[in-house]
Amino acid sequence: MTETGMSESGEYVRITLEDLTGGYLEELNPAIREFEIHRVLKESVADFDALHRCGKRGVPGAARTREIDGELAEGAAHYADSQLIISGQQVMQDWERPIMAEMARVAARARGDVLEIGFGMGISATMLLEEGVRSYTVIEANPEVRERAEQWRARYPGRDIRIVPGRWQDAIGALGRYDGIFFDTYPSTEQEIAEHVLDAPVYAQHFFPTAVEHLVESGVLTYFTVEIDSLSRMHQRILTEYFSRIETTLVTGFRPPADCQYYWADSMVVVAAVR
Ligand SMILES: C[S@@+](CC[C@H](N)C(=O)[O-])C[C@H]1O[C@@H](n2cnc3c(N)ncnc32)[C@H](O)[C@@H]1O
Repeated sequence: MTETGMSESGEYVRITLEDLTGGYLEELNPAIREFEIHRVLKESVADFDALHRCGKRGVPGAARTREIDGELAEGAAHYADSQLIISGQQVMQDWERPIMAEMARVAARARGDVLEIGFGMGISATMLLEEGVRSYTVIEANPEVRERAEQWRARYPGRDIRIVPGRWQDAIGALGRYDGIFFDTYPSTEQEIAEHVLDAPVYAQHFFPTAVEHLVESGVLTYFTVEIDSLSRMHQRILTEYFSRIETTLVTGFRPPADCQYYWADSMVVVAAVR
């Protein structure tokens, strides 16, 4: 079975299903089997087509120039106007503001107690406070980033702000439940990049079981999805294992710089995953 997708200039992708044993979906009526297989192939071609169109609009993206030396939690943090570099990694850049703003709206929508994982440049932290949360707690692994967070906190006397040191994996057990959780970390080691970025369907997946344990009933998790225009079905299947409802918003109106090493497209889907 073959499905062919066409770009404006002509054919660019053809997908063929090879049924290795001849038994794929053999329980189904042949007409239904053909319909289902054709639908999946068509969807794959549509995915390639959407990616191709985005490639024409986006920036080329850049490869990482350095591996993480040791652990990100111990690396020196270099703050420039528009980015944060730790251990030679582009950990955060300020073109992400529109994405952070939508994620902050999601995590703060109950105006309740919000937990953020990873302070970074404090862009989302400021947005969460501006959204009017009752309390703001952040777990931050890197000591130099924590110093920044302490300086930032001094700008908000009277607000309930708690800065928890350590990696979330070690620190979160001592914390309670939250109305909203905002998860935006960067892998700490090359091994975590391999496990959670290159080999996992969704980076935040390793946090989902913990998120569910620390959300109140109907509490909401949001995280940096790295999904360009829609959630893949693979991504949705993982979410539905843990959450009762998924809402998505497409954020546009930004453009990563040409040398951005972690994202290349001009849109991203923001998720509200409801417990
Ligand atoms: C992408 S930045 C966060 C950006 C932030 N949302 C902002 O708007 O500026 C990631 C942050 O997560 C921290 N981090 C990475 N791994 C962590 C972990 N396991 N536990 C806690 N913090 C972590 C990093 O030190 C960094 O400050």
